[in-house]
Amino acid sequence: MERTFLAIKPDGVQRGLVGEIISRFETKGFTLVGLKFLKASRELAEQHYAVHKERPFFGSLVDFITSGPVVAMVWEGDGVIASARKLIGATNPLTAEPGTIRGDLGINIGRNIIHGSDAPETAQYEIGLWFREEELVNWQPHLTPWLHE
Ligand code: RTP
Ligand code: MG
Repeated sequence: MERTFLAIKPDGVQRGLVGEIISRFETKGFTLVGLKFLKASRELAEQHYAVHKERPFFGSLVDFITSGPVVAMVWEGDGVIASARKLIGATNPLTAEPGTIRGDLGINIGRNIIHGSDAPETAQYEIGLWFREEELVNWQPHLTPWLHE
């Protein structure tokens, strides 16, 4: 079963949006398999955003992501990687579609509330970076027959 890594960024936590955001993935029908609340170290944040290390915004991005606690999560379901990216919306909240998390809840690219893995390889890398295998829970929700034919 496909898994993705999602993280509610420090702005989402400070603004009290944790419940609202988790709710969107729950009500969509995806399954939560890992959850932790932590302040990321600089090393973790740099590894997480390593793909952007040559970009001009890298330093401020790492400063921001380590500036307060984040909610790190692993969600499971068919097609969850691409679907979560759709639910999250475009990188810039000003142009993100209404109905998406960023489109409904944000206004600035540097305060875009939530991170989501963008492909199967990045999902695998990010899950391994933020979680140990034993921190992920294999379980079958009782709702499954009502969500899948
Ligand atoms: P994320 O990785 O955080 O889920 O965001 P994303 O895939 O939608 O966007 P990405 O291109 O991976 O960029 C990572 C984060 O860097 C900040 N950013 N700033 N100032 C800029 O031009 C710029 N571009 C990107 C954003 O906060 C973005 O979420
Ligand atoms: Mg990204």
